[in-house]
Amino acid sequence: MAFIDLAKSRYSSRKYLDKPVDRELLLQVLDAGRVAPSAKNSQPWHFVVITQEEPLVKVRECYDREWLQTAKCIIVVCGDHREAWRRADGKIHTNIDVAIAIDHMTLAATDLGLATCWICKFDVMKCVRALGLPDGVEPIALLPIGFPADEADVNRHEQLRKPLTETVHWEKFYFKPFKR
Ligand SMILES: Cc1cc2nc3c(=O)[nH]c(=O)nc-3n(C[C@H](O)[C@H](O)[C@H](O)COP(=O)(O)O)c2cc1C
Repeated sequence: MAFIDLAKSRYSSRKYLDKPVDRELLLQVLDAGRVAPSAKNSQPWHFVVITQEEPLVKVRECYDREWLQTAKCIIVVCGDHREAWRRADGKIHTNIDVAIAIDHMTLAATDLGLATCWICKFDVMKCVRALGLPDGVEPIALLPIGFPADEADVNRHEQLRKPLTETVHWEKFYFKPFKR
C-alpha cells in the first residue's frame, strides 16, 4: 500500500472485536515503535503491553469509557524523562519522541489490519499506581489495539481536517485571520 493510503486508512477505533491479537502481530507493531527516531537516539520509552484480564481491568479504570471494555489489549506507552534528551534551553523531548513511536505503531497496526486509538485523557496517577511505575516514568498514552468492529468516517479527511491552504506557509509565515 502506498504510504499516503496507509496514513489515510488509520483512524481512531472505539469498538473492537472480541478476538485476541496474536503476540506475533503485537511484536510487529512494537518493533515499528522500537525503530522510531528519537532526539539523540535516546529512545526514552517503555511499552507496557496489557492483555490479561486482571491488569486490563485496572488500566481500563484509568479511562472510564464503555467502549474501552471491548479492547482486549492496551499498550500503555510510557515516557522515561530520565533518559530523554534535554536541549540547552531545558526543553525535555520525551513527549516528542514518544509521539513518534506511537505514530509508528498506529500505522504498523493499520498495515496489519488492526486498529488503535490514542488515549491521553486518562487518570495518570491511577495508571502510575496500577502499573507501579517508578519516578521519572510517565504513562503518556493508552493505546488500545485490536481488530476493529467499527469503521472510519470516509469523509473525515475532507471534512474534519484543515485544508493545506490553512496550514502551509510557502517561504514565509502569513498571518491570517483565525477562521474557526
Ligand atoms: C495526542 C492525542 C490524544 C488523544 N486522546 C484521546 C482520548 O483521550 N480519547 C479519545 O477517545 N481519543 C483521543 N484521541 C483521538 C483523536 O480524537 C483523533 O485522533 C482525532 O479526532 C482524529 O480522528 P482520527 O484519529 O479518527 O483520524 C487522541 C489523539 C491524539 C493524537
